[in-house]
Amino acid sequence: MPLGLDRELVLIAEDDLANQALLARLLERAGYRSFAVGDGREALHAAMEEHPDLILLDIGLPAMNGLDVCRRLRADPRTVALPIILVTGQTESRHVVAGLDAGADDFVRKPYDEAELMARVRSVLRLARVTAEMVGAHGVIAALANAVEAKDAPTELHCQRLAGFAHQLGMRAGLEPQDLKGLVFGALLHDIGKIGVSDTILTKAGPLTALEWDAMRQHPIIGERIAEPLASASRFAPIIRSHHERWDGQGYPDRLQGEQIPFGARIVGLVDAYDAIIHDRPYRAARTVGAALEEIRRLAGVQFDPELARLFVEIVERDREEGRVPGIRGLEALRAAV
Ligand SMILES: [Fe+2]
Repeated sequence: MPLGLDRELVLIAEDDLANQALLARLLERAGYRSFAVGDGREALHAAMEEHPDLILLDIGLPAMNGLDVCRRLRADPRTVALPIILVTGQTESRHVVAGLDAGADDFVRKPYDEAELMARVRSVLRLARVTAEMVGAHGVIAALANAVEAKDAPTELHCQRLAGFAHQLGMRAGLEPQDLKGLVFGALLHDIGKIGVSDTILTKAGPLTALEWDAMRQHPIIGERIAEPLASASRFAPIIRSHHERWDGQGYPDRLQGEQIPFGARIVGLVDAYDAIIHDRPYRAARTVGAALEEIRRLAGVQFDPELARLFVEIVERDREEGRVPGIRGLEALRAAV
């Protein structure tokens, strides 16, 4: 971009002109754009209006001090996440504490060590970028997960419980953080394709006709298609598509067998079946945890990956012995996984 508008923009709020110039030079040299204001009120106004990526905020500003500016920025939804580094000549730790309590992300003392100051700028901006991406991704995933639950009311909270179980089993099976994240997203969204299946079929109390089953069996394929535009879909779309496959090759939609089934889909298929057994469904009443575990043992190597089935039974039994509710709630899992 010729004007460098893709470079991050830093607002310098500093009343000392020599310091303003020094900071501007340092930032320019490090590849950032910057602009400066000289008092607290202007700083507040510029932070709201100019959409900087970061503010270097002096505490001892005229008109409104930096701590008050910081609190005001944190109280406004438009700037609640704006990265703020407080800059001050005061060296006592109570000032540092007051600054961080006011909502600053970091704190730099004058006179600056230039390399340290720029390292802090980079680190705060990096964290802000990661957070923004995560909030965006979480928001979309959580909204879609809510859409499935709104459509398929009897399974309320099913997806969240499932994400909790899946996370627990995935950890136990030794998945890496990135794969755990994909697993949790896959668990939350596994039934998203039910949006494309008629309500009459989803809530039918009696057995489904052959035609109705055909429509029901489309949901993993519809789900995969819905999830495809999401960032990092490659990590969880295969889970959505294959969560009804069976170890013996008798599942759907692709009749995959054994280790052909993506690992995350084997996990979600297993915990999905477990959760379905222990909760009421339109077509039958809930059964006990003991009965569910027995069923999982019986179907290990038939419907389920035998090693995962063994690990999962162990997890649930240990949780029961220790008086814990098996699985952690899905949104906690989501936070833990990213
Ligand atoms: Fe499903």
